[in-house]
Amino acid sequence: MEPKSVVVTGATGFIGQELVHRLWQAGIGVIGITRTRAEVMPFVPFIMDLLDESEPFADPPAGTLLGLIHLAGHAPGSTLSPVALHETGTARVVELAKLWNIPKVIYVSAQGATMSAPTAFQQSKWLAEEIVAHSGMNFVILRPHLVWGTSSRTSEKLERLGRLPNVKVRPIHVADVAETLIRSLWLDRVDGKRYEMAGPQLMPLESLVEGASRSFMRRRRHVTLRDLDAWGILTPRHNRADGAWVSDFGILPRPVLSTRTH
Ligand SMILES: NC(=O)c1ccc[n+]([C@@H]2O[C@H](COP(=O)([O-])OP(=O)(O)OC[C@H]3O[C@@H](n4cnc5c(N)ncnc54)[C@H](OP(=O)(O)O)[C@@H]3O)[C@@H](O)[C@H]2O)c1
Repeated sequence: MEPKSVVVTGATGFIGQELVHRLWQAGIGVIGITRTRAEVMPFVPFIMDLLDESEPFADPPAGTLLGLIHLAGHAPGSTLSPVALHETGTARVVELAKLWNIPKVIYVSAQGATMSAPTAFQQSKWLAEEIVAHSGMNFVILRPHLVWGTSSRTSEKLERLGRLPNVKVRPIHVADVAETLIRSLWLDRVDGKRYEMAGPQLMPLESLVEGASRSFMRRRRHVTLRDLDAWGILTPRHNRADGAWVSDFGILPRPVLSTRTH
């Protein structure tokens, strides 16, 4: 029988690592598009920089390709300009998916992605969504709110900064994002749709980010609402879950913190 695999961009990242682990557990091979050259990888590496347009695409790998999960992007809080990777990178991913005859593209966007969004992060996410949605390919688009779990780079960044504004967030557990991505591969009823994803707990950002006030004492830095918007860590007007996400995917979102009360 031919091996079945999924192509994953951003497989080395925070969400990608969780996804790769779960795909292997389900017996599905992963071909990871990455710039990282390492001796040992938990997937079959396919070295490619999505921003290097001079590099021609290689022939498709052997076996059946079930779908392409496009994660490569900037995590909320990244200081890098998001535009190039979200737009150019996504256009290259769609081109590759067509060339390799991949039946479905699943794109991880972010909450608040609209044309008129106040930040480059959200605007570029919306443009990337449009590239996927108008590609002529079968697609699913997921818009998670702040994703939480061990080794999240956003949490590391926030822990280093100062006092956080008094906003509430609805973080989503990285395991629920990974599980939704895997179910997106099989479920026909989710095709062509966009889903907002958030967790069940509404909690102050500051209580989520342990150590924030201690850092403030040392650094005398105030993080403003504007900072959070610019970093793609959204204010409460955006942090909602779509009921359709829960029912269409059969996911019961889990709390990110189980031992504390808020
Ligand atoms: N984390 C969150 O709270 C959150 C919330 C909403 C949406 N999202 C979205 O979810 C996606 C994944 O987020 P994450 O937190 O897992 O990000 P991450 O940990 O920062 O990982 C980013 C990934 O992008 C890849 N990448 C970066 N530049 C690339 C390039 N030029 N060519 C190829 N690959 C490139 C990196 O792979 P290599 O370095 O190995 O090449 C890395 O695996 C992003 O699109 C992000 O915007 C995240």
